[in-house]
Order: sequence, then structure tokens, then C-alpha cells
Amino acid sequence: MCGIYGIASRKSITNKLFHGLKKLEYRGYDSSGIAGISQDRKCHVIKSTGPINNLKKRLKTLPNIFTGISHTRWATHGEPLLKNTHPHHSGSINIVHNGIIENHEDIRNFLKKKKYSLTSDTDSEVIAHLINYNYKKCNDMRLALVGSVNVLEGSYAIGVINSNLPDKIFAASSGSPLIIAKGKNENYIASDISPVLNDTQKYLTLGDGEFAELSSEKVIVFDKKSKILTKKVITTNIKDEQVSLMGHKHFMHKEIYEQKEILNEMKNRYVGHTSLLPNIFGPGTDNLLSKIKHVHFVACGTSYHASLVAKDWIEQHSTITCTAEVASEYKYKKINILPDTLFVCISQSGETADTISSLKKAKKLGYKDTLAICNVAESTITRLSNLVFLMNAGPEISVASTKAFTSQLFSLLLFSIIVSRKHGCAERKMVSDIKQIDKIINSIFRLEPEIKKISSKFKNKDHTLFLGKGGSYPIALEAALKLKEISYIHASAYHSGELKHGPLALVDKKMPVVCFLPDNYLAKLVLSNLAEVEARQGQTFIFTNKKIPRKNKKVEIIKMPDCPDLIVPILYIIPAQLLSYHVALKKKTDVDKPRNLAKSVTVE
Ligand code: M6R
Repeated sequence: MCGIYGIASRKSITNKLFHGLKKLEYRGYDSSGIAGISQDRKCHVIKSTGPINNLKKRLKTLPNIFTGISHTRWATHGEPLLKNTHPHHSGSINIVHNGIIENHEDIRNFLKKKKYSLTSDTDSEVIAHLINYNYKKCNDMRLALVGSVNVLEGSYAIGVINSNLPDKIFAASSGSPLIIAKGKNENYIASDISPVLNDTQKYLTLGDGEFAELSSEKVIVFDKKSKILTKKVITTNIKDEQVSLMGHKHFMHKEIYEQKEILNEMKNRYVGHTSLLPNIFGPGTDNLLSKIKHVHFVACGTSYHASLVAKDWIEQHSTITCTAEVASEYKYKKINILPDTLFVCISQSGETADTISSLKKAKKLGYKDTLAICNVAESTITRLSNLVFLMNAGPEISVASTKAFTSQLFSLLLFSIIVSRKHGCAERKMVSDIKQIDKIINSIFRLEPEIKKISSKFKNKDHTLFLGKGGSYPIALEAALKLKEISYIHASAYHSGELKHGPLALVDKKMPVVCFLPDNYLAKLVLSNLAEVEARQGQTFIFTNKKIPRKNKKVEIIKMPDCPDLIVPILYIIPAQLLSYHVALKKKTDVDKPRNLAKSVTVE
């Protein structure tokens, strides 16, 4: 959840470190810091609380540094105060850490006995002292690092510098992502590829229990026994502009608009004239997936909402039974698995701790197979899963997930068709429906000015209700999550039929009720549920392509383009994303970096 960036170079990297760290800000923005070694072998540290821009003011106090590590924090242990900000230091050692050290209290007690004084409330600080303690004993950084992480329990990605070895960065990882990127006369450590894209496309991932020693000249990866490892160097096709705003005010806005191109590319890549192209989930998968009788979906947040849509799609078009569980529940539950059940986990980042532990659990149970639908090619989830389907939506920077959701839905729609084939699903018609996304999405984007206007009616609200039925219910959930996340307005989503079983009590003339009402076989039922709201003078906002009269000023109809029922979830979420975006703008919240949240939730 925190971001780590480090450079070992021949040139001064003071500004570069700062600008690279900014690219990781979406991973945490409670506080940030830099530690770097100058030519006179002195280590210099700057820190500040709040967004990374606050660090800029202190940047000019740094001399030219050539080897450095930096960190942007999402607080877990200890408030976002200066004393808890990384890098943490002990003697000649400075460290940055992402993850959680579960046994930090025991290590603290050990260190106190060894006369170390601990000054922060973090779990991370113990790492610095432990390395210092071991380094002083053996005078060998590799051994000191291995010896130190051997006693750590929990997850970690660690970057270390030692002013006695001024041109080197050391790194270790277990359960938290860390990449090593290879540049020209420069090498890097980073939590993900985004800060290095201006310099290089080449990187390797540091696996669990692996260590690295970097200088400007070379990268050495080794294991716990100091055995040198040969790692595969990957060339990413992600471009720097994909992690830049490119004229948009916020990444969220940029990412909402990217959905058109992403979905179109997915269509071109996977959808043939009248059927899907063969084996799009990997060699031999059409056959494997045709034998599936049950599916267990597991995911968190937005990705979980995508799984609810998939459950509906599959159950509508086949006799396959599906369950959809949030990962934080799945991992603590007794799971009953019938023969021919497939485990499917969905994750944008591939690094969500709850989803990772669910996948690890699933691999020990009796599933036919495990499939990961993921956006990040080299992630823990893709490495752990037997089958992998990459959404290829490009990096998603805004904490509020938008393009990941619709590309997950697209992937899951393809998956639903493949598993439902043997059950006689109308693939030809489904394919022709999918092909309409491209055209309809344009009309949806044209709604933005209207949505912007409507957003002012939400600005001063504290509570909202979102309603949907059938395939639109997960959209109501996702729309409510978007509004909560970025505008801090409380939003609850219900099946529209559930209203009269309790939530109707909340409805009064001040309560905005947002409803997704595609013109399908459920529309009449939803309309009667809405009548219950209108009878209580609730203020309704109805996204619909059904012709319904606007009875009074309290009914706001947002006219949606006609759209086949199959693709409703993919298209109806887009205006809801725009609505939350404009409400958040009006409320002047930090749209891309909402309070208390991190993009990738790497702690359980
Ligand atoms: O990376 P993942 O898809 O595994 O992340 C799961 C959730 O943390 C994520 O979708 C979260 O709910 C988003 N902030 C929602 O916008």
C-alpha cells in the first residue's frame, strides 16, 4: 500500500527521486521521505507529512545524491506523523518498507535489550535497527539483510542503503511487490513500473525470499543461502503517457474516458465475426472451461462487484451454479466444493492481500483449477494462479476503480459465454450485442454535461440510496461505492424490491434515490418500487432507456441510449462513475487520492 522507489546512479538523482516518487503517490499519501548518499559518503534525509508535494519544499536542502531510496506511506502502524515517516534509520542504515511486520513487538523487545532506542510507532523501524545490529556483527550487508529478514514475520518489500557502501542499494521482498528495473548507468527498485518508465522498460520482479544488491553498474539477485539467481528480464509495453494525466484534470476522468478504447481493443482481440475466438483464456481452455459445473468467484471491492455481475450472466445462460464471496470472508470460511468447480479470483492490482490469501487457500482445496482475472501481468496473483487472463486495461492510477471494472466485466462476459456454451447459450446473439458497446459508449459520454448539472443536487447531501434489480443490482453497489469513496457521501445500495423491507423508512423529501432502470423484463417491477419512493416525496434520479413520464420536479430522468440487456452492466456504470466524479469535484475532495484509502490493499 506504500510506495518504494530507489535509484543507484552515476549522476545526481535528487530531483529524479522526487518526481519518480510522485508517480507512486496513488499507493499512499499520508507522508513521504527520501534518504540519499552524497559523494562525501554522508547520508541525507528529508521527510514530510501529507501529500508528496509537501516534500518538495525540503528538496532544496538536499545536496546532490547518487544513491537513494524514497517512500510514500499509507499508515498502518502509527499515525501519519513525521516520526513515523520512512525512511527509518539506525546507524549507517536507512530503510523503506512496504508491508506489515507482525512480530514487531517481539523484535522491539529484543532491540531494547540490545540498547536500541525506538522512536516511532511503526512496525517498520525495527527493520532498520535489526539490519544495523546484524551488520555491526558481520560487516557484510548481504548477510546482515538475510539474517534480519529471517526473523521477520509478515510481509515486506524493503529497500536499504548503508552510508558505508555509498553506491549500493539492497532490497528484499516477501509477500509485497518489488521490482528491480535496469537502466543505462542506473538501476532502480520500485513498488511498480510507473516511476521508471521515462528511463527504461526493462525490469525483473523480486520473488518471495529473494534479495538484490544494486549499483549503477549491475544488479545481483540472490537467495537466503547467498546463491546468485538468474532472473528473467521482462520488457513492459506500458508507456509513460499511460501513467500521466495527458491533459485531464484527474486520473479518474482520464480512466473513465479510456474505457472506450480498452473495450474496443478487447473486442478486436477476442471477438470474432459470430463467435469468440478460440482458447482466449489460454491453450486448451475452451475444452477445460466447457466441463465446469460450478464457479466460486472471490474478490474485493469493485472486483467483487464485477463477480456479482458474472454470477448473474452465467446463471442466466447456463445451469452452472456460482457463488461470489468477498475475499476477506472466503479465507475464514468453510468451503464446500463440488466436483468440477472452478475457482476464479478477480483483481485489478493482483496484489490485494485478502485475495492472495484466498487464492492460496483455494490452491490447497479440491478445485478443478484456479483462474485469475487480473490487470497486472507480473503480480503475485498472476504468479500464483494456474490460469491467467489479463485485462490489459493499462495502469489504473486513480484509487477509485473505473476502467478496471468495465474491463473485468468484459473479461467475465467472455468467460461467461465460454462456460455457458455447452448449455446452449446464444453465442451468436451475445457476440452481436458485445459489438454494440463501441457505438453506445459514445452516446453515454455525451451525457457528461447533464450529469455535471445533476451532480450539484448531491453536493450537500449526507446520505443517498442506490437501487437496481437483476444485473443492475451490482451496478447500484458499484455506483454507491464510487460515490462513497470519492465524495465521502454515505451511499447504500439495495435490490429495488428490498426497499419496502426496511430502507424505505429512510426516504423523505431530502433523500436522493438513484436507480438503474434498463428497459427489460424487470422494468415494471422497478417502476413500482420507485413509486414507493415517489409517494414519500423522495428525490429520484433514474438512469433509463425506458420512456417514462417525468411526473414532477422530484423525478430526474437521465435518458440512456437503448442497449441490449447483456451489456447493460458495462454501460450503465459509466454515467454513475461520471456522477461521482462531478460530485467529488463540487465537494473539492482529492478525487484521485481519497482520504484513508490506498490503491492496492496489500495488508489483510
Ligand atoms: O486490486 P483489486 O481489484 O484486488 O482491488 C480490490 C479493491 O481494493 C478495489 O476494487 C477497491 O474497492 C477500489 N478502491 C474501488 O474503487
